[in-house]
Amino acid sequence: MSGRKERFGSRTAVIMAMAGSAIGLGNIWRFPYMVGEHGGAAFIVMYLLATLLLSLPVFITEVTIGRRSRKGAFSAMSELHPGHRIWEFVGLLAVIVPLLINSYYCVIGGWSLDFLLRSCAASFVRMSPSEVTSVFSQMSSSRWEPVVMHLSFMGISTFIVAHGVKAGIEKFSKISIPALFFLIIVMIFYSVTLPGASEGLKYLVKPDFSQVNGETMAYALGQSFYSLSLGMGAIITYGSYVHKEEDIVVSGAGTAVFDLTFAILAGFAIMPAVFAAGIEPGAGPGLIFQSVPYIFSSMGEEVPVISAAVSFIFFLAIVVAAMTSCISLIEVGVTFLGEKFNLSRKKSCCLLFVLCGGLGIVCSLQPSVFDSLDWFCSNVMLLVLAFCFVVFAGFVMKKEDVREEITNAGAKPLNVRLFNVIYFQIKWIAPIAIAVILVTNFIL
Ligand code: TRP
Repeated sequence: MSGRKERFGSRTAVIMAMAGSAIGLGNIWRFPYMVGEHGGAAFIVMYLLATLLLSLPVFITEVTIGRRSRKGAFSAMSELHPGHRIWEFVGLLAVIVPLLINSYYCVIGGWSLDFLLRSCAASFVRMSPSEVTSVFSQMSSSRWEPVVMHLSFMGISTFIVAHGVKAGIEKFSKISIPALFFLIIVMIFYSVTLPGASEGLKYLVKPDFSQVNGETMAYALGQSFYSLSLGMGAIITYGSYVHKEEDIVVSGAGTAVFDLTFAILAGFAIMPAVFAAGIEPGAGPGLIFQSVPYIFSSMGEEVPVISAAVSFIFFLAIVVAAMTSCISLIEVGVTFLGEKFNLSRKKSCCLLFVLCGGLGIVCSLQPSVFDSLDWFCSNVMLLVLAFCFVVFAGFVMKKEDVREEITNAGAKPLNVRLFNVIYFQIKWIAPIAIAVILVTNFIL
């Protein structure tokens, strides 16, 4: 999409575009390991609550700001409330955070690419669980392999952005996301029949609330924002393309339902395999790479070709899902550099490749840097920015303007009735809850 006048054509187009941005490594890679690190079912309950009570209002806020201003993340707030440095600064943060996220996002993209290439060689067929785990640890601890893969993944994505051929990959993602959905369901069937899988199922459905503390809530909220692409202006930018007649509440709820379903299915595919393979659920970012190949290996017991084909399609779909997300993250930076410094698309891409690529190399070689950057972006910055957005909508924008956007100037009777509840959530519940979670997280 280039001009500001372009609009999404229909409700399904809006939901599909936003779900496309939402569904990515956040659902398949990050959600399962967060669940594993932070208490299983109890985390899932916190995550559902966070999505319903906080992410949904933040989502509606971002679309409101975007549609009202018809601007991208960087200039939306200064457009609606000109002359205040603070909102320009918030806009700037909304550009920097996605780029930081992009740096380590591409490292995981690189791991997925690596596993895709391994699938081409049918290398997971008939592997024992310990062989599966050692594949990942050898790969990730090698000096050059993850770096080469990370730079290749980022290189391809940046090339796509530089040459404006995103349309191609986005079309491809319309096939690969449903394919991934289907495959995950197939994998659930395999995963739950592995010996020892029932422990994993119990882990996902039996909440142990003694594990929940302030930190868990911060992680659950961070994960919910991350997964819905909130707190970094991506949805503001999408919002600027949303048609006046569109129902913001329905689009938000639709996207959240898609995204949640995807994450929970991924949890059910992966966690039973984690337990069956005897991996620690809190094994961290490598969790899916250590457990999923075990599902493929057991599929290969009967017919090896099927296992090889399924693992190939699975990792291909993950690479594509990650690439579409990565492309939109890079696009944020490209738009900003173009608007602010008049840099050409190609020059911006080169610059971003060097900056994000460099930081990504550090993340790739230093797990502690990776973890800190992810923690800082997802659990701190996304919350800080989401807080700024709801405060902007609740206290800076006029209530009437917010009402006009959310109810489409009174044309949506259900939203007219819900407006006071949604507005209360935006103005009071969301900022207070996010602030409390941020503060307790810092103090703990
Ligand atoms: N939500 C994406 C995922 O789950 C990742 C992501 C975060 C993203 N922020 C984004 C994608 C902004 C596109 C734009 O993987």
